[in-house]
Amino acid sequence: MGAPPPPDPATADAAAFVASLSALRAWAGNPSLRSLRVLGGTTTTNGGDTVDALPVSTISYVLRGVRLPQLPRKSFVDAYVTACYRAAGREPADAPGRWVEAWSGLRGSSPAKATPLPDDTGDFTGRAGELARILGHVTHSTGATGIVTIGGAPGIGKTALALRAAHRLASRFTAVHYVDLRGRGRRPRTPLDALHSLMPDAGASLETAAARWRETTASAKTLVVLDDCRSAEQAAPLLPDGPGCFAILTSRARLAVDGAYAMTLGAFPAEQAWALLGRIAGEERLRGETEAVAELVARVGALPGAIRRLGETLRRRPAWTVREVLGALGRFDGVG
Ligand SMILES: Nc1ncnc2c1ncn2[C@@H]1O[C@H](COP(=O)(O)OP(=O)(O)OP(=O)(O)O)[C@@H](O)[C@H]1O
Ligand SMILES: [Mg+2]
Repeated sequence: MGAPPPPDPATADAAAFVASLSALRAWAGNPSLRSLRVLGGTTTTNGGDTVDALPVSTISYVLRGVRLPQLPRKSFVDAYVTACYRAAGREPADAPGRWVEAWSGLRGSSPAKATPLPDDTGDFTGRAGELARILGHVTHSTGATGIVTIGGAPGIGKTALALRAAHRLASRFTAVHYVDLRGRGRRPRTPLDALHSLMPDAGASLETAAARWRETTASAKTLVVLDDCRSAEQAAPLLPDGPGCFAILTSRARLAVDGAYAMTLGAFPAEQAWALLGRIAGEERLRGETEAVAELVARVGALPGAIRRLGETLRRRPAWTVREVLGALGRFDGVG
């Protein structure tokens, strides 16, 4: 009877794959971790250092499943399979390639879920300076992850601006994600819940899920919009972690995030408020009522959200003049 054939990589999930790595070691005659380290040779890090491809501690971690559901690195799989074949006195030939292929298939089957961006605001108005600053910041932050925080009052246009910037930038990134952290609500999202919305199989503990997210974003140029953050602490585990990654955070609170470019949105300049009102209600409705429009805009503090509601009120009531809407504003606590 000849020697048993080497096992194939299992591809049901990461745990099965790791179990088949153990089976390969058993097939190779259970070489010690030290001999696998020696047989695995060396590799060069991004920083140019030559290090063991299979440090004993890493083999131990991987085989004990400590990092599951995270898969081991590709370079680990390659070196480990090579080492097992050598320990068995066999030529690795195409075996490392087959295992790496199985690894790639698994990795591809559970990548971070692409979270499509909510629609851009069709009648987005103004904010040219703010938008340019955000887009410019991406170009400047080539090394580490770039972060921009957008703060400001309710309805000032933080989400609208973040989404406009993200839509402009999306084609420059490999992965784009949007998460509403519901910071202003009574039940803000927990970081773990938010990580699960990005990666359903990220693992049960925040520590594991956050590590998985960092690893995922380190290997793909990722853009993340974290909308309506309650605090910097809530957002921290969701920040991408890699060169060329970019995060846009919005919050009603003033977020203190290390290394971030902080922007506070103010009310619309009057001419932008007029422009938005005209786009929604129709320019012709504003003509001849300059004074009433100016009063209306001032009354709502040129808040884009309020301007939109006033514009919609005018559109729904074609017979009303701006002056009449202003009168109604005086009578009721709002318009609708
Ligand atoms: N630049 C803009 N052009 C057109 N509409 C805008 C603009 N900015 C905001 N709006 C509109 O104003 C409303 C409120 O904007 P948005 O939701 O972005 O505010 P926000 O600052 O994120 O508020 P919140 O603190 O409640 O999250 C939305 O209807 C949005 O479409
Ligand atoms: Mg918002």
